[in-house]
Amino acid sequence: MKLKHVAFIMDGNGRWATAHGMPRAEGYKHGLEALIRVAKRMDARGLEAVSVYAFSTENNARPEDEKDAIFKQIKKFNRTYFGNLRVIYMGDIDALDEDVIDSIEDVERRTKKNNGAVLNIALNYGAQADIVHAAKLAYDKGSFDEATFEDALSTSGLPKLDMIVRTGGELRLSNFMLYEAAYAELMFMDKLWPDMTEEDADAVIAEFERRVRKFGK
Ligand code: IPE
Ligand code: IPE
Ligand code: MG
Repeated sequence: MKLKHVAFIMDGNGRWATAHGMPRAEGYKHGLEALIRVAKRMDARGLEAVSVYAFSTENNARPEDEKDAIFKQIKKFNRTYFGNLRVIYMGDIDALDEDVIDSIEDVERRTKKNNGAVLNIALNYGAQADIVHAAKLAYDKGSFDEATFEDALSTSGLPKLDMIVRTGGELRLSNFMLYEAAYAELMFMDKLWPDMTEEDADAVIAEFERRVRKFGK
């Protein structure tokens, strides 16, 4: 089966920086460069969507200076050239600082007409909150079938999630795309996210193509 929608838990940025004798902030800078590399390769390989975990609701518990560095890098990232990629964000964006919100609106507007893969960036995102929010919307509509519920999730409109890849060696989902993960293939890599190359993106596709999916049948 062809990989259409892959999601990355981009973990290991801090450890990468420490291992290179740099402040953690440098890890986020290199991590976002890796994201461009990987997303562009996935687009070139014909994928329809790449979702990435950039900042979890739980990451709000990090030190203020680290959070400032992350959002500064996100704003810089939003100004880069995305080629054919259409950039969208999901998560509690309204709760972020005004300048971050502006930068997100700007990149979404700027890339809206692009016809390549969707790059869906989860920022200030938590899957449990997204599920509860969708449940509220379904309740308001008085409609509880799966289709209505899925329409209310932040991922509505994207192809079904095929695979979740976590870099950085940890074996957990950390509140990422829990509903969408239902039948996704899981892949864990020891590699730290900023080290991800185009060849690693190809290896992810190759791994997916080796998997035998059964969907209970
Ligand atoms: C993941 O990288 C990205 C964010 C949480 C923003 P980390 O910052 O968790 O990197 P490690 O796991 O400490 O190396
Ligand atoms: C998950 O990584 C969040 C992102 C990659 C953005 P964390 O480093 O925050 O996850 P835990 O704390 O190891 O579970
Ligand atoms: Mg981490």
